[in-house]
Amino acid sequence: MRIIITGANGQLGAELKKVLEGHNIYAFSKEQLDITIPTNVREKIEEFEPDVVIHCAAYTNVDGCESNADLAYRVNAAGAGNVAAECLKTGAAMVYVSTDYVFDGQKGQPYYEFDQPDPKNTYGKTKLAGEEIVKNTLRKHYIVRTAWLYGREGKNFVKTMLQLAETQKTVNVVNDQFGSPTNAYDLARAIKLLIESEKYGIYHVTNSGSCSWYDFAKKIFEVKGLDVKVNPLITEQINRPAQRPEYSVLKNFNLEVNFKYKMRPWEEALIEYLT
Ligand SMILES: NC(=O)c1ccc[n+]([C@@H]2O[C@H](COP(=O)([O-])OP(=O)(O)OC[C@H]3O[C@@H](n4cnc5c(N)ncnc54)[C@H](OP(=O)(O)O)[C@@H]3O)[C@@H](O)[C@H]2O)c1
Repeated sequence: MRIIITGANGQLGAELKKVLEGHNIYAFSKEQLDITIPTNVREKIEEFEPDVVIHCAAYTNVDGCESNADLAYRVNAAGAGNVAAECLKTGAAMVYVSTDYVFDGQKGQPYYEFDQPDPKNTYGKTKLAGEEIVKNTLRKHYIVRTAWLYGREGKNFVKTMLQLAETQKTVNVVNDQFGSPTNAYDLARAIKLLIESEKYGIYHVTNSGSCSWYDFAKKIFEVKGLDVKVNPLITEQINRPAQRPEYSVLKNFNLEVNFKYKMRPWEEALIEYLT
């Protein structure tokens, strides 16, 4: 299979390059392929004639999106539209990677793919707009919503906690936002399964189980054997530009029904990442 990866130097892109070995991979960083420039997208898709484009490029700074909404829409929505339009012309399929932050977090139970999105922050709104554009442009699409991602490359919560542990004996972490930490390697493996199936549609893909950011931090220090005290905070105590959903746990319903595929528990995936 001929596969283009956009945003290939990010957390997920880096894992996909490893997991998809054996396929013909054309992996492009932002410098090599800026998805906000339609001619750039056209040239790459015409030249490399992919069967599928795995679209990982995104503006992922959730707080940054609040003050840079134009840029966020340009990258997360219009950029995805540029890719979808070229895929339509050439017959390629497209994977659009989306987020748990398309939901408002008020359901109190894991979200199905069939639940109605209602994003509360700009990042979520721009990602939902990207989903809509892709869905409306291209029948051959996979929308893959994931959450709380950490990988070997790039920035993430796990690395931030480990950095803080180098200089601090105590860290403060919110204990009233719940989600599912997801190892980017596990997500990449599930995406491989999807693209080899041609079963298009919306898929929730996170490691199984859920926790708060506080629980997540505690587990990171426990696994690494670090003596760091974690203080639980409530969201009101920290002043962040973007509102976060309280409970954005996703149910991997379509993955389990269509493929009988179970994602492993988040604790197990974290232990493998850290050891
Ligand atoms: N990280 C999470 O917790 C999380 C959670 C849910 C969903 N997701 C989604 O999962 C996908 C992958 O996330 P990730 O964590 O791998 O993100 P990431 O590490 O931030 O990678 C995204 C990549 O896209 C690149 N990029 C930004 N603007 C671009 C442009 N105009 N053209 C081409 N590339 C551009 C970035 O380059 P620069 O770094 O140089 O800007 C970066 O290398 C994204 O769609 C994200 O929305 C992530």
